[in-house]
Amino acid sequence: MRIVNIVGARPNFMKMAPLLREMRRHPEITTTLVHTGQHYDDRMAGQFFRDLQIQQPDISLEVGSGSHAFQTAEVMKRLEPVLTDVRPHVVVVVGDVNSTVAGAITSVKLGIPVAHVEAGLRSFDRSMPEEINRILTDAISDHLFVTEESGRENLLREGVDAAKIHMVGNVMIDSLEQSRPVWERSDVVEKLGLPRGGYGVVTLHRPSNVDDPATLRGLVKALGEIGRRLPLVFPVHPRTQSRLEAVDAESASAGGSGARYIAPLGYLEFVGLMASSRLVLTDSGGLQEETTALGIPCLTLREHTERPITVTQGTNRIVGTSPDRIVEEAMAVLAATQAAMARPPLWDGHAAERIVAILRNTWRGGATPTDRTHAS
Ligand code: UD1
Repeated sequence: MRIVNIVGARPNFMKMAPLLREMRRHPEITTTLVHTGQHYDDRMAGQFFRDLQIQQPDISLEVGSGSHAFQTAEVMKRLEPVLTDVRPHVVVVVGDVNSTVAGAITSVKLGIPVAHVEAGLRSFDRSMPEEINRILTDAISDHLFVTEESGRENLLREGVDAAKIHMVGNVMIDSLEQSRPVWERSDVVEKLGLPRGGYGVVTLHRPSNVDDPATLRGLVKALGEIGRRLPLVFPVHPRTQSRLEAVDAESASAGGSGARYIAPLGYLEFVGLMASSRLVLTDSGGLQEETTALGIPCLTLREHTERPITVTQGTNRIVGTSPDRIVEEAMAVLAATQAAMARPPLWDGHAAERIVAILRNTWRGGATPTDRTHAS
């Protein structure tokens, strides 16, 4: 069974690592790993390959940065000959980045089935590039692996055949659990001189937050106020770097931003940092899930989430981008005692096993295994 696995950007790597590990356990599976090069800096890509012990890519497309159309088109152009050559039985794409949708379109146009891992998530905000990527990828995929019940409901509402949808849990949590012994021993907190359990972690990179100076200014102001109560550390995404420098120069003259900016961290150091924090403030999708699994309070600085289970069952609150509201919510977290939270169903570290079992069964022409969440 030949499987081509496609990764491109930072949030793809921790989703693909457990899938590759599981595929390698089955001798009948031959994998080809394609890295599109959407992210190329060592801090955004190479470090994650090492931290997650991902094999070197078999094929590097070296697409790099550019506009959405450029990036998507270049992945498609460079991927097509690879797929024509390998003729895989299935192509696996993960998440919602430009490389995801480009990989899916290229494959289906060649008549190759596509498996989408992390299907069905919807923010219902079509100004987000990721929302467009999700809708398009799901519409043409043959196997839709969902992480939470909302994913199934969204797909059914969009008319997807129920037989294509599989509730399998969350491969991000597979990575979190598989690497737990390593990140639990991380000394990143000491290296940064932070008090365990007594600091906050910030990440921001959504275009809607960082590309608009007025919004970013408001967020920096809120961080300044929270920073007076709780030390904040902010590993800065390259997209955010230059914008932040401009905005922060203004706030520095008005007393400083309150957050300590550092370079992006690798996977193991970042999870180690999050796991010992008091609070996470973010606009990332993946962090909403990881904080829920770790039991760390998370404030999401956006108007919507495509991961509602992190709110209904997890530690996440959607607080928008108004500075006053963000400060108020952060103070409420600091005043509360931390409640123990239950993990969402099947976020148990075994999602990749379920996914690979379904793919192998399909290849053999057998029936797919019973969908556990709907077996009753
Ligand atoms: C992309 C994904 C987003 C994901 C994010 C995680 C899309 C549409 N967006 O956004 O869903 O949450 O990755 O990081 O696919 N850059 C570097 N080094 C790199 C990569 C990028 O310096 O290795 C800089 C470049 O200046 C580039 C900018 O970051 O122009 C933005 O990169 P890009 O891949 O276009 O989008 P992200 O904001 O990273």
